[in-house]
Amino acid sequence: MKARMEDGKVSDIRAVWFDNGKCVMIDQRELPAAIKIVSFGTHTEVAEAIRNMTTRGAPCIGASAAYGMCLAALNKVDIDKAAADIKAARPTAYDLFYAVDWMLAKLKAGEDPVKAADSYADSIVDKCKAIGRYGNELIRDGMTLMTHCNAGALATVDVGTALAPMRAAHDSGKKIFVYASETRPRLQGMQLTAWELNQEGIDHAIIPDGASAYYMSKGVDMIIVGADRIAANGDFANKIGTFDKAIVAKRFGIPFYVAAPVSTFDFNTRTGSDIVIEQRAETEVTEISGIRIAPVGSKALNPAFDVTPAELVTGFITEKGVFAPSEIGSMKE
Ligand code: MRU
Repeated sequence: MKARMEDGKVSDIRAVWFDNGKCVMIDQRELPAAIKIVSFGTHTEVAEAIRNMTTRGAPCIGASAAYGMCLAALNKVDIDKAAADIKAARPTAYDLFYAVDWMLAKLKAGEDPVKAADSYADSIVDKCKAIGRYGNELIRDGMTLMTHCNAGALATVDVGTALAPMRAAHDSGKKIFVYASETRPRLQGMQLTAWELNQEGIDHAIIPDGASAYYMSKGVDMIIVGADRIAANGDFANKIGTFDKAIVAKRFGIPFYVAAPVSTFDFNTRTGSDIVIEQRAETEVTEISGIRIAPVGSKALNPAFDVTPAELVTGFITEKGVFAPSEIGSMKE
């Protein structure tokens, strides 16, 4: 991804990579104010970085987890124990579990830990590029698009899932406009998606989450979101607020696409009601920058994700092509 660094130079950086025996990543909690790079030398530190959202977004969580497994192997930690530690970091994003199991198999087959983790991260980027190509075919010049949360390069090592078709459309000379909903309470839409769109020079506006229906009623041509876990029947979990958008899109006849690599499809989970939804701390809702803004005595609920039923999905944009919810079984690896 393009990022203007502190010295003013534009660099091409990834969200997570491996360097000099360490897992290195952008601390996504510091954006857009600062591009802070942090590095970790143990799998438990990487698990904590996933838990506290230094790194986030399903495919990027997967790549970070792969590097965590790599560190466990290099540090001669029991890899089954490390796998359990890393899997306990967050419950919803399927890529976390997919990546840890993928690494376990490679390590048990005697593969070099760094090469295996690097190839996992590289393969995500290649998949995102393919998602960009397939998604770009759906975008026409002059379209107004909407997305939610951050399913960009930060969420996927590089390129993005939902943002990949937008990047590809922009790079191929199409003029597009993107509404990025702010995504309370962690503000990934405002702080991360808008940051990425800015770096790429893609015309956009941040909108409050509650303004989505208003702008859809004024004219949105297509919605593209990412996913954290897609069940075998096409129901999918994504950032809280996605479900609302899908319902409103149906009301206005707006095509609603989900962009995700095959590593986000959990064919062992039958329907969306079987997906575990992470509940995060109340303080993410009641406080801003550590200062309580809610009345003392009020409690808050903070589900990180919701489940959108397959019937509201126009199609899944994957590295293997675009599939209707009824067709996703054919993707099974
Ligand atoms: O809690 P987060 O920031 O990890 O949630 C991220 C999302 O919900 C993204 O939309 C999803 O992971 C898709 S990322 C390509």
